[in-house]
Amino acid sequence: MEEVLKLKSIKKAIGRKTILKKIDLTLEKGEILGIIGPNGAGKSTLLKIISGTMVPTAGSIEFSDRNGIIGIVPETPAILPSLDGFHNLQLLASIRGKIGKREIKEAMETVGLDPSNPKPVGSYSLGMKQRLMLAQSIMEKPRLLLLDEPTNGLDPLGIIDLRSLLFDLSNQGVAVIIASHLLREIEVMCHRVIIFNDGHIIREVNLRKGDQEFIEIGVSGPEDWDTLSRWVEANDGQIQKLPSTDTYKGILRTSLSIPQLLPHLTYLGVRVESIQPARANLEAAFLESAHLKEGAYR
Ligand SMILES: Nc1ncnc2c1ncn2[C@@H]1O[C@H](COP(=O)(O)OP(=O)(O)OP(=O)(O)O)[C@@H](O)[C@H]1O
Ligand SMILES: [Mg+2]
Repeated sequence: MEEVLKLKSIKKAIGRKTILKKIDLTLEKGEILGIIGPNGAGKSTLLKIISGTMVPTAGSIEFSDRNGIIGIVPETPAILPSLDGFHNLQLLASIRGKIGKREIKEAMETVGLDPSNPKPVGSYSLGMKQRLMLAQSIMEKPRLLLLDEPTNGLDPLGIIDLRSLLFDLSNQGVAVIIASHLLREIEVMCHRVIIFNDGHIIREVNLRKGDQEFIEIGVSGPEDWDTLSRWVEANDGQIQKLPSTDTYKGILRTSLSIPQLLPHLTYLGVRVESIQPARANLEAAFLESAHLKEGAYR
């Protein structure tokens, strides 16, 4: 696969505070990567460093395409409230002077805004502002798109539109990074998710379908668990027991689907009590990693 972006040992300190500790990350062409983590984890800082609006204290950033444009949906919209949507984008486009009216109109239509709407952006709803920022981020046809909390203010339909827009862009080879708190949305939009806390990556979860499946499985007793674990490890999978004492339940990571897996287990004599896809497990991984306790960050 073709790499679009490579971060090596990125560090960021502001004053005496270390915000990013040592970030190593690569991104492939067409890949949609999610970054989730609690408030203050450093997600926005990382996006700013990738986009070049903030300079890292140490480390290096490599882009495969040096002249490639990076599209950004910032955390807070950069708009002039008295101008309408089209003229806001025209002003931003004039900075680089790469595109004209046609491309601006096209981008607005792609995100469901009417380019001829004369309403000043100051009176837009939050979701409309977010759509305008989305149009701004794609209008110059970037190779890398950075979205900071893009679903903020979008209604359910807007979220579905965003999801299909991102899939279209990904199919055209655009790489995307989305920072968000919203696990459910990240889960349906991304190929891979990194869980971020306190300035570093604490876990990475691959969600690409067909690539790796996460399966929640419960078996009858310790001997079933032993047989299952040994077979999984011998077959390039991973298994993690869920932290409950009285049952033999765990999360299995494998390249096999459930119908492919079951005959093997029957053959091995493993007594299966329950088996189901475990994609929602991202939430468990996140909560555990973020050390969330009774709804509060420790
Ligand atoms: N310009 C700055 N000066 C000093 N500290 C900063 C600056 N920008 C960010 N920080 C600090 O860096 C840490 C990470 O902030 P950042 O905005 O990257 O987090 P985040 O993960 O995007 O959080 P949120 O989910 O709230 O958007 C925070 O503790 C924040 O206070
Ligand atoms: Mg942020």
